[in-house]
Amino acid sequence: MREFSLIPDSASTIASRVDLVTLFAIAIIVFFLSFIALNVLYFAVRYRRGNPADRENAPSHNDRLEMLWIVVPLIIAMVLFVWTSIVFFLQSDPPPDASTIYVVGKQWMWKVAHPEGKKEINELHVPLGRPVRLVLTSQDVIHDFYIPAFRVKVDAVPGRYTEMWFEATKVGTYRLFCAEYCGTYHSGMIGQVKVMDPVDYEAWLRENSADTGYVPMAAEGEKLFVQYHCAGCHRESQVVKAPRLEGVYGHTVPIQNGKEVGFVIADDRYIRDSILLPKSQVVAGYEPLMPSYNDQIPEEDLLKIIEYIKSIGAKGVTE
Ligand code: CUA
Repeated sequence: MREFSLIPDSASTIASRVDLVTLFAIAIIVFFLSFIALNVLYFAVRYRRGNPADRENAPSHNDRLEMLWIVVPLIIAMVLFVWTSIVFFLQSDPPPDASTIYVVGKQWMWKVAHPEGKKEINELHVPLGRPVRLVLTSQDVIHDFYIPAFRVKVDAVPGRYTEMWFEATKVGTYRLFCAEYCGTYHSGMIGQVKVMDPVDYEAWLRENSADTGYVPMAAEGEKLFVQYHCAGCHRESQVVKAPRLEGVYGHTVPIQNGKEVGFVIADDRYIRDSILLPKSQVVAGYEPLMPSYNDQIPEEDLLKIIEYIKSIGAKGVTE
């Protein structure tokens, strides 16, 4: 980690693409800035008061010149539009095999939870050469998770999940910032990203787990599922008819709102909303009976419950 440099390290698959499009934009800016500035200088000197320049028959307009300054900027703008869109979509869409790590922002620290059970604060360990997807949220105000060396930056917003993904290409330690002013110690909300060889990373995930007892998030989530009385209705229940959650995660769910029927994908956001705002998207064929858990379940517990529902989602629907 260098102390100071003009351009940060380039340590992810997207970094060079972002740099290239940025350099292209800067090159165009520099070209037109100097072209216009030099012309201003030239005309200012040539036609200054008292200079015996030819001022007769000044042309009032020129069709070819006007076409040129309409068409050329149009082409440049379109090239930039298509190019940045390609990079944007690449950066927004995590590959399906990306592994998930959860990040919760809080005044003034980053809390990171790995599904395997390991937790860290203001540090993020990731494996080299493997796509990693971060699911971010905040438990107070808006923060912004920023890793310059990876060229990624996403807001952590209270009440919703945002996503970022990257694939690290260089083992090393990189800076991590909060890039959204979030109060007195905003500037102290910094940390380190450690890119490790996948073998070392696996070892790190399990390190000390014998004595400190890392419990996978899904297992903790299952306990919470019982503790918060979710199991009372969402498992075999004689009293209340609630949808079973096995095989739900990642699949399409039919929802009903009055007479209207629609479909949603049961992702992290949908599960979160179903817990906090259960009446907003009720599964078709069920009564809106579930009470809201708004302000009753901390962000970190929500993530564990989601991890649990995800873990039973892989099993598929069993009859
Ligand atoms: Cu958190 Cu700035």
